[in-house]
Amino acid sequence: MVLPPVGDWRSRSGSRSDPASGQPTGGGVALQDGEKRSFVQRLFTSIAPRYDRFNRLASCGLDQRWRSEAIRLGDVRPGQRVLDVCAGTGDLAILCARRQEGQGIVVGMDLNAQMLSWARRKQRQQRPFDAAHGLRPWALAQGRPERGEAESKDDEVGATGSARGDPHLDVAWLLGDAEALPFAEATFDRVTIGFSTRNLSDLTGGLREMVRVLRPNGRLIILETGRPSHPLMWMGYQLFLWTFVRAMGLMVTGQLWPFTYFARSVRAFLTPQQLTERLQRLATQVQYVPLSHGLASLFLATKS
Ligand SMILES: C[S@@+](CC[C@H](N)C(=O)[O-])C[C@H]1O[C@@H](n2cnc3c(N)ncnc32)[C@H](O)[C@@H]1O
Repeated sequence: MVLPPVGDWRSRSGSRSDPASGQPTGGGVALQDGEKRSFVQRLFTSIAPRYDRFNRLASCGLDQRWRSEAIRLGDVRPGQRVLDVCAGTGDLAILCARRQEGQGIVVGMDLNAQMLSWARRKQRQQRPFDAAHGLRPWALAQGRPERGEAESKDDEVGATGSARGDPHLDVAWLLGDAEALPFAEATFDRVTIGFSTRNLSDLTGGLREMVRVLRPNGRLIILETGRPSHPLMWMGYQLFLWTFVRAMGLMVTGQLWPFTYFARSVRAFLTPQQLTERLQRLATQVQYVPLSHGLASLFLATKS
């Protein structure tokens, strides 16, 4: 079944189940906004412990290179305030923090507590944990969170400090919705989102939020699974997603339905030109950069 035009994922029918697993396939049918959100959250909760391993294998090790390239071309620099939405297990946020060399602020935000707990774990493994001097995302957010809103004690103080050890991994992890950001206008120099625009329930609303919290001349950096422009390469890429990537997903996680959704959502997502036009409508100047011959897409949208 062909997906509806993606972006604003409006309702047309209910969700279907994978006959093998009984799990919803989601990616192949139209879902209500709320339905899509809970479907996506179930999906990432179920694969969180294996997400990184799957990424490395399925991208043949290219995913971290794409993230580094996005940060370099997006001109993430020391001294900036950076927000990584849909941060997942934290790779993009951690790379931003490394590039900042301890100077600046990086907030990694995600809706999924499981994914964020892996982000924190990864960060702790890479440097000594010192919460006492951690960043306080609430200092940037509008108002203090309600009690219980923070995922854990770690969230209340940010994830790490910089008083000793490697100072390059300061990231404040925050549970939150990319489509309703708890930050004032013009708070950040850079907003990044990696491999997640496909997963938003309301793409235009989410992008508008990301642009809202950017300072003038600030930049939204979107890294997304690509869409090679050559028709043969695009067909080959889809074949790769439907065979190798799904097999890899099954092998690594024991589940097929999340990767069926993945393959379908890539096929149904906006073309680079369509996403560029949508970003231009949000008062940004947009540059599209295909990475690895279009296997990944990078969009650099600068706020006017
Ligand atoms: C494919 S993972 C991407 C993780 C990471 N950015 C990376 O580069 O690997 C997608 C993440 O987006 C999160 N997500 C989906 N919708 C979201 C929303 N509306 N707000 C915040 N996070 C969301 C999911 O929970 C999941 O962790």
